[in-house]
Order: sequence, then C-alpha cells, then structure tokens
Amino acid sequence: MASYDVIVIGAGPGGYVCAIRCAQLGLKTACVEGRETLGGTCLNVGCIPSKALLHASHLVHEAEHNFEEMGIKAGKPKVEFDKMLDYKQGVIDTNTKGIEFLFKKNKIDWLKGWGSIPEAGKVKVGDEIHEAKHIIIASGSSAASIPGAEVEIDEKIVVTSTGALELPKVPKKMVVVGAGVIGLELGSVYSRLGSEVTVIEFLDAITPGADAEVARAFQKILKKQGLDIITGAAVSKVETLKTKAKVTYAMRKDGAEHTVDADVVLVATGRLPFTEGLGLDTLGVKMSKRGQIEVDAHYQTNIPGVYAIGDVIDGPMLAHKAEDEGGAVAEMIAGQKPHIDYNLIPGVIYTTPEVASVGATEEQLKEAGRAYKAGKFNFMGNGRAKAMMQSDGFVKILADKETDRILGAHIIGPVAGEMIHEICVAMEFGASAEDLARTCHAHPTTSEAVREAAMACGDGPIHA
Ligand code: NAI
Repeated sequence: MASYDVIVIGAGPGGYVCAIRCAQLGLKTACVEGRETLGGTCLNVGCIPSKALLHASHLVHEAEHNFEEMGIKAGKPKVEFDKMLDYKQGVIDTNTKGIEFLFKKNKIDWLKGWGSIPEAGKVKVGDEIHEAKHIIIASGSSAASIPGAEVEIDEKIVVTSTGALELPKVPKKMVVVGAGVIGLELGSVYSRLGSEVTVIEFLDAITPGADAEVARAFQKILKKQGLDIITGAAVSKVETLKTKAKVTYAMRKDGAEHTVDADVVLVATGRLPFTEGLGLDTLGVKMSKRGQIEVDAHYQTNIPGVYAIGDVIDGPMLAHKAEDEGGAVAEMIAGQKPHIDYNLIPGVIYTTPEVASVGATEEQLKEAGRAYKAGKFNFMGNGRAKAMMQSDGFVKILADKETDRILGAHIIGPVAGEMIHEICVAMEFGASAEDLARTCHAHPTTSEAVREAAMACGDGPIHA
C-alpha cells in the first residue's frame, strides 16, 4: 500500500493537469488511469485526433477548391485514408507520450488500472489499495445514445465519435445525428473526404446555445460546402442492416416520417458523465438527477476529502474547463484561493470557418433585459482573410450600452479559435470595447477584424 497527499482518478485533460499542478505545489501525487495511454478522451479519441483529421481534410479541400485560383497546379488530390489514419495515430502517440514524460518529470506515479473508492481516503486499483488525503475524481464522460430512440451502437456502422475516428474507409454516405460540435466537426471531415453527409438535428437551428446570428451564418456556409442539414427533425430509430443502416426521423412541425440510408451513422447527441465502477453509490456520493457528481464551490463532494472536476460535474463538457478546474482544485488543496470565471470559458468549433465564442449571446442579453450594443465586422473587409481566400463570416462584439464593457463576443471566420483569446483577456480585465479598439493591431492580420468590430461599438469601423 502506498500513501499519497493526492490521488487523481482519470488522466484526461482535467486529471493530468490536476496531477501536474499538485506535484508542482509539492504534494505527493498519483494518477489512476485504466487506458493503455494517458490523456483521456481528448488525446486518445477526441479533441486531438479529430483536429488531425480536420487539418488533413482541410488541406484536401484547399487543394480541390482553391489551389487553381492561387496558381498552383497539383491535380486532384488522392486520399490514402489508411495513411491519414496513421498520421492521426502518430499525432495521438506523441501527445500521450508527452504526458507520460511530464508525469515522470513531476514524479507523479501512474497507477495503471481502473480505480474505485471503497472509502474516503482510499483508492483501489486492481487488488491494491492506496491511501490518499485527497481524492479527485476526473473520470470524464462517454457518448450518449439518442434519447428515446431505438439504436444499437456497434462502432462499425453505427458509431460514436470514437468509431468515427477509426473507420476503415471513407463512407460513401454518412448520416450524422445531432448538429452539435462533434456532429459538425466530424461531418465536415468526411464531407471534405468525399462522403455524402446528411446531418439531422432535433432543434430548429444548429449548434445549440450558440449566438443565433452565428448559427444561421454557419448553417449557410456548411450547406454551401455540401453538407445536407435537416433541422427540426427527431431521429427515432437507427436500424442496422448487413452493411448499411437505415435512419428514421420525424419532422417536428407536422410529424411526417422519413427514412434515409447510410453506410455509416454517427450518433453525436451529447455526452454523459462517466462514473461507472467508481463505487460512488456505496460511498454515498451525492449525484444530480442528470448523473453528475454534486460539488461545492471547492469542488468537494458531500464526502470530505473526495473532490470532482471536469465532465463529471456541472458545466460545459470542454477539455479547457476541466483543465482549469484541475488546476484550481490543486491550488485549493495547497491552501491557495484560485477562481474560475465560468462566463469566460471560450467555446470553439474547429470547422472551416472556425466558430468561437465567449461570454453572453445576444439572446441571453435580451432575455436578461440588459441594454447592449452590437459591433459587427465582416471578414470581407479584412485584407488578410481575403488573401487567405477565407472571407466568409464576421466578428461580433457585444458591449454594455452605457459602460461599453465587453459582455460577449462571437466569431465565425478564419482562425476564430485563436482570435477569441484577446477578447477573453480583455474581458478578464473588465475591458471596454473602446479599449480593444484603441489597441494597435498588426496589419495585415485577421485580428484586425476584432478591432474593427470593437470600433463598430463606437464611431464605426474603418473598412466598412
Ligand atoms: P451537443 O450537445 O453539442 O449536440 C448534440 C445535438 O444533438 C443537439 O443539437 C441536440 O439537439 C441533438 N439531438 C439530440 N437528440 C436528437 C435526436 N433524436 N434527433 C436529432 N438530433 C438530436 O453534443 P455533441 O456534439 O455530441 O458533443 C458532446 C460534448 O462534447 C459537448 O459538450 C461538446 O461541447 C463537447 N465537444 C467539444 C468540442 C470542441 O470544443 N471543439 C469537440 C467535441 C466535443
């Protein structure tokens, strides 16, 4: 039996960051992970591999659509999908090995196996029991099925994001259930690689919770790229035939039922907290109705010394939210007083164009009755975006009508996922739109569009 200050259960972005931060703060730390490699869903079967495929398939799209106009004659690109998957695996391997290196560097013990908590202060891994003053649950989430529908996921024909990253070949026809982040990112990948992609979404708009103007613009662009998007439709059944599947859905407005065939069906209807096998029932950990672990402001559960962070607790299921919580709980245990502003957690969809947001949407401000102004700037007026042949989209900054303080920002356009951060920093410091507008931005950059949107909250942008 080994004894630790902290044992973290799960080595995803929440867990491994937490373990490293604990070790940095001088706490004797171990991290339990049952997968063969560290990094959790994000590094192994989520964020990182999907970004590898998004990057590669984007280049295919560029070669097919933009090379000729830029004076590059390269012929039609030929995709060798198995090699693309090898490249993706290589990206996963270097990242997961990197975490292993960081564990060694920080003297964190990797307890290999699946952990459970037989009682407060103890973690069982395999047959061994380890002691810890503090136990942090960072066990993440797993894909949800389609609520109320008949579906059997075999990860071959009917797949979650995990199976979609491992398909043996590019499907001729793919149906994506759910127009959230996963559905649109992976739907884009396969559409660019030549699949005929149909996305079926329950709500009347794509990307639930996004600023409505951005969602509308995004849907138009994706349609132009060739994705067939059906909104206001509830999928009720996915039948697997020998090598195909049949998807049944009903239009919500009139109940009309339709079916569509596919070689692969991607179920992307959300994720659920993963707490199986942890023994939380026996331990008496309080759970919410939605299966999340309930925690206080210090991420502590109702059992003293047992904490939880990331996808298993309330809030957006995002790697960077989990990372921040991992760092925060480590600092709290070490006696510091960290703080996370949940209003300032950015969200990014890594399609082309990218979609990024932080803070309130226009709909949220209207609902709260907050007087605001919206400054908008289209990438059509941005020289760099035009040079990149990516002038679709815009930046929108929402600021308080009286004080000019930035309340939210929404970007659809090139490298939006990078540009959003200057607005995050500005908001962390309580900046006004004028603060951003008066900050010199290098020319020519896409970030100038952020500045111009900030100017649009005042006297107006220059290039519009
Ligand atoms: P999501 O919650 O973003 O979207 C699921 C969609 O499925 C919703 O729009 C919902 O209305 C729809 N839906 C549900 N039942 C349906 C039915 N019967 N028929 C048709 N549509 C139906 O979930 P998603 O995309 O699976 O992502 C899961 C989590 O992973 C999210 O929290 C997401 O933020 C996170 N994630 C984040 C990424 C990023 O930050 N880039 C990348 C991938 C995942």
